[in-house]
Amino acid sequence: MALRGGAPFILSLFMFVSVLSSQCDCHPHPARAVSNHTARKVSDVVAEVAGYADVAKKIIDLAVFGAAQNRSYRRLADFTDTIGNRVSGSHNLELAIKYMYNAITQDGLDVHLEPVKIPHWVRGKESAEMIMPRAKSLAILGLGSSVGTPPEGIEAAVLVVESFEELKRRANEAVGKIVVFNQPFVSYGETVAYRAYGASEAAKVGAVASLIRSITPFSINSPHTGWQDYQDGVNHIPTACITVEDAELMWRMAQRGQKIVVRLTMEAKTLPDADSYNTVVEITGWQHPEQVVLLSGHLDSWDVGQGAMDDGGGAMISWEALSLIRDLGLRPRRTLRTVLWTAEEQGGVGAQQYYNLHKINISNFDLVMESDLGTFTPLGLQFTGNDAARKVMEEVVKLLAPINTTKLEPHGEGTDISPWMQAGVPGASFHVADSRYFWFHHSEGDTMTVQDPREMNLCSALWAVVAYVVADLEDMLPR
Ligand SMILES: *[C@@H]1O[C@H](CO)[C@@H](O)[C@H](O)[C@H]1NC(C)=O
Ligand SMILES: *[C@@H]1O[C@H](CO)[C@@H](O)[C@H](O)[C@H]1NC(C)=O
Ligand SMILES: *[C@@H]1O[C@H](CO)[C@@H](O)[C@H](O)[C@H]1NC(C)=O
Ligand SMILES: *[C@@H]1O[C@H](CO)[C@@H](O)[C@H](O)[C@H]1NC(C)=O
Ligand SMILES: [Zn+2]
Repeated sequence: MALRGGAPFILSLFMFVSVLSSQCDCHPHPARAVSNHTARKVSDVVAEVAGYADVAKKIIDLAVFGAAQNRSYRRLADFTDTIGNRVSGSHNLELAIKYMYNAITQDGLDVHLEPVKIPHWVRGKESAEMIMPRAKSLAILGLGSSVGTPPEGIEAAVLVVESFEELKRRANEAVGKIVVFNQPFVSYGETVAYRAYGASEAAKVGAVASLIRSITPFSINSPHTGWQDYQDGVNHIPTACITVEDAELMWRMAQRGQKIVVRLTMEAKTLPDADSYNTVVEITGWQHPEQVVLLSGHLDSWDVGQGAMDDGGGAMISWEALSLIRDLGLRPRRTLRTVLWTAEEQGGVGAQQYYNLHKINISNFDLVMESDLGTFTPLGLQFTGNDAARKVMEEVVKLLAPINTTKLEPHGEGTDISPWMQAGVPGASFHVADSRYFWFHHSEGDTMTVQDPREMNLCSALWAVVAYVVADLEDMLPR
């Protein structure tokens, strides 16, 4: 009895475990359920993805060599030359959203706007002069969210430090002073802590203002702005970035024991939150319209330069990818959704609200993509996802052989997609040849002059191929 009853039980248990371990409840293949299911599945996907070689080639040909050559660059030039920069809360940002809404509508794609409340900080007039040991004007850019100075400015002696540790050690020297941070550039991710927290750390030890060496590995005396965060319960003191050159100058003077005095004048203030929108463009999937591959870049910028590189380029290729797919008469199984975020520079405000509103459908988000590290020559795709998803993506990037970008790297990146990735949705971003990105980032130097049409063609092709193929595969990426 035990034997006769046992065999079917063991068989059905085996089938159950086999189906579970493949994580596939979507396409029951009875013949495979009792065989090496996981391995069959992988080889199926390899063949399935390889079947997209022709369509990938068509997309690449259109973007890089064909009728769409240089289109994303031309669109970016027209947009940034017409609108200029577009900081959160500004009239220019409103104009930028209207411009894109109209341009994408004229392109024949479905576009709609989703309202968001965004921060409204204005810099006003600002200046800084060195008074001792000699008269010299200092180029500055106030940091986003900084308070202003009294109208007559703040005049004070300077304490120059090279690190937070040095500031702590010399805390008793900081009282009543303007603290100048001359921290060396290590990497953006690491060094940006000085821009973000320099003012609060200086205020904690009694400073009256702080000036931060710009976060860049290269400078021609250009200040680079960005967001900064006051800490709760710490005095809000005015803060601005200065150039690498002026930070080093004051450090050398301090090393010689010279007394440095600076007058800082800033009108910066924060107004009530403003109305804005995330701009959403879609090609609806034919089979699973509720399932989504999301592509994105942000439309806002800082209030200097043209915001061409950060992040006009990322926004334009995310639109261009949908144009390319539409031009070829393609419609994937799942929905392709491009979101042009608002108020990224203020801490991903538009994207965070988008996540809060749409996370109810998180199980339908297949892949989230963001381009916000420059649209220079792409070298590969950065990807966050589990091993099974990575196996699929390794096959997908092989389709990019015609543009030599077949590398799949760890860690998809981006402020605006990070809430999704943290919640387990696979995420992707570019690895670009980005040695120039932080040279121009958040400065007057971020203009069309740093963009190259051929590089943008490659980015558009890569973005379109990855988004289209993932959106059209039989199954969503495993997670
Ligand atoms: C399943 O197939 C893979 C690849 O063909 C092989 O490496 C693995 O050993 C097989 N597993 C079983 C349990 O047969
Ligand atoms: C695209 O830009 C490149 C580089 O500027 C140029 O050589 C090429 O002729 C342009 N192609 C078109 C179609 O405008
Ligand atoms: C969630 O998905 C359903 C099905 O596609 C859709 O009707 C609904 O509007 C979505 N909700 C949100 C908040 O996105
Ligand atoms: C890819 O690399 C090959 C071989 O180095 C080269 O001939 C080709 O022009 C490259 N293609 C692109 C689009 O860069
Ligand atoms: Zn950006």
